[in-house]
Amino acid sequence: MKEQSFLEIQNITKYFGSLKVLSDVSLDIKKSEILSIVGENGAGKSTLMKILSGALSPSSGDIIFDDNKYESFTPKLSKKLGIDIIYQENILVPTMNIIENIFVGREISSLYGLINRKKMLQIAKEGLDFLSLKLDLNKTIENLSIAEQQYVKLLKAVIFKPRILIMDEPTSMFNALDAQKVLSMVSNISKNGISVLYISHFLKEVIQISDRIAILRDGNLISILDNKNHDTSIESITKDMIGRPMSAFYKKEQSNITDDILEVRDFIPYKGFGKINFRLKKGEILGIAGMVGSGRTSLLQSIVGAIPIYQGEIFINNIATKINNPRDSIKHSIAYITEDRQKLGLMLEHSVTSNMVIVGLRDKIKSFFTNIKSHSKYIEHIVEKLKIKTSSLDKEVKFLSGGNQQKCVLGKWLFEDSQIFIFDEPTRGIDINSKHEFYKFINELVCNGKSVIIASSDMAEIISLSDRIIVMKNKSISTLLQRHEFSEEIILKHSLGVI
Ligand SMILES: Nc1ncnc2c1ncn2[C@@H]1O[C@H](COP(=O)(O)OP(=O)(O)OP(=O)(O)O)[C@@H](O)[C@H]1O
Ligand SMILES: [Mg+2]
Repeated sequence: MKEQSFLEIQNITKYFGSLKVLSDVSLDIKKSEILSIVGENGAGKSTLMKILSGALSPSSGDIIFDDNKYESFTPKLSKKLGIDIIYQENILVPTMNIIENIFVGREISSLYGLINRKKMLQIAKEGLDFLSLKLDLNKTIENLSIAEQQYVKLLKAVIFKPRILIMDEPTSMFNALDAQKVLSMVSNISKNGISVLYISHFLKEVIQISDRIAILRDGNLISILDNKNHDTSIESITKDMIGRPMSAFYKKEQSNITDDILEVRDFIPYKGFGKINFRLKKGEILGIAGMVGSGRTSLLQSIVGAIPIYQGEIFINNIATKINNPRDSIKHSIAYITEDRQKLGLMLEHSVTSNMVIVGLRDKIKSFFTNIKSHSKYIEHIVEKLKIKTSSLDKEVKFLSGGNQQKCVLGKWLFEDSQIFIFDEPTRGIDINSKHEFYKFINELVCNGKSVIIASSDMAEIISLSDRIIVMKNKSISTLLQRHEFSEEIILKHSLGVI
C-alpha cells in the first residue's frame, strides 16, 4: 500500500512581505510512509508544514488532496481532511489533566448534552494501548516530565485517527533513550496506515526512521532521497542541505587547562539529592550527561542561585563564595544559559539587537537602551558567525524561525564578558552546520582561558566538546569520565546505572 499518494503540494510559493521563504515547492505524500523534511534553520520547514495545517496560506501553488484541488487550507478544513500537527512549542494547558487536554474543545457529550467522561476515558485508554504507553490520565500536565508531555501530544493526535501526522522536532527535548521511544511510536503509527511528516535536526534519527528524506535549502526543494534501506549517509544529506558535505562530528582544538576556577563541595541543591562534588578548571569544558530528570538542570540552577540551595559550598578561585541569586552569579562572572528559551531566554516582542544587548536579569539593572549603537559591530559579527537568519537586526525575534531564536539566546550570552559559561541544552533545534559554528565559539572561549559547563542530551555534542564528562543518575553523580573513556555506550550505561 506504500506507493499510493493522496496528498500532493504543487509549486507552493510563500512570501512574508517581500521575503520569499518557499519557492515553487512540489512534494507528494504516500499512504503509510514516514517522509522527513530536513534543512538549515530558516529553510522553510515549519512554514511548509503550517501551510498543510491551514495556519498559513501559500502565496501561490495548489494542494491536491484525494484528487481535489485547493488553493489553501484553513485549520478546520485541514483537520477535517485528517491532517494533524504537533508543533515545535508546547501547546498543552499546564493546569489541566491529560484527559481534559486531549479533549479540550472536542469534548464528547452524552445523549443529554452532558460531558461523557467515561467514553472519553475509554478512547484515551485505547490510544495509550495503541502507542504502548503507560500514563495516569488524571495527572495534570505541570506534573509530567517533558518526555511525558510529548507523549500526551502524540496521544492527543492519534486518538482522532489522522491520515497524516506532522511532527515538528518532536525529540528535540529528549535524551537518547526517550527519543528512541518516540521514534518507535512514530514507526508504529505509520505501520498503522498513518503517514508521518517528520521534521528534525537529528540526522541520525531521520536516517533511522524515514522512508524518504526531502531536503530544503533557502525555501527551495533541493532533493528527495530514497531511504528505504535506512542507509543514507549524513554527508549526502548535509551536502544538499548546505551545499557541501560535512562530518557528523566536530573536531575540537585542545585548550590549555590550568587552575581550578570553580569548586562545588558537598553540594545538595535540595533534599533528595546526593552530595555533589566537582571542580572546573580554567580552559576546560566539563560536560554533564544524564537522563531527563536526573537532576542536571536543578544542579545548574542552584549553582547560579536561581533556586536556593539546601546544603554545600561553592568556591570561586579557591575562595568560598555565597551565590544567593542569579545577580550574584553574574557579579562573579558566571553566565547561565537556560534550556527554556521561550520563557526565560528571550523577549519575543523585541528586536534581535535588543535581545542580544540586554542579558537575563541585567535588563532590570541596566537602562534599556544600553549603548546599543556601540555594540552593533559585535552583534553583526555574532549574527554572521552563528548564521542567524534574519532580514535585519531590528526584526522582532518572534518572526524568526525556532532555531534562529535559540541562536539569539546563545548569541546574547557569548556577548557577555564572563569567566564561567554554564549552558543547559544549548543547541536544541539548531541545525548541524550552525551547531559546529557554535562549538567553534565555545572552543574559542576555552582557548582564551574561560571555562564552560555544558549539560546536553546530544551525545555527539557532549562527546566531541567535553574534556571530562560528569554522568548524573537519580540526582547524584554516577561517574566522572576522562576523555579517553568517552563513548555513547558508556555514558548511557552510567546514566541508567547498568554498569
Ligand atoms: N510570520 C513571519 N513573518 C515574517 N517572516 C517569517 C514569519 N514566519 C517565518 N518567517 C521567516 O521565514 C523563514 C522560514 O522560517 P521557518 O520557521 O519555516 O524555518 P524552519 O525551516 O522551520 O527553521 P527552524 O529549523 O529554525 O525551525 C525564516 O527566515 C523566518 O524568519
Ligand atoms: Mg521550524
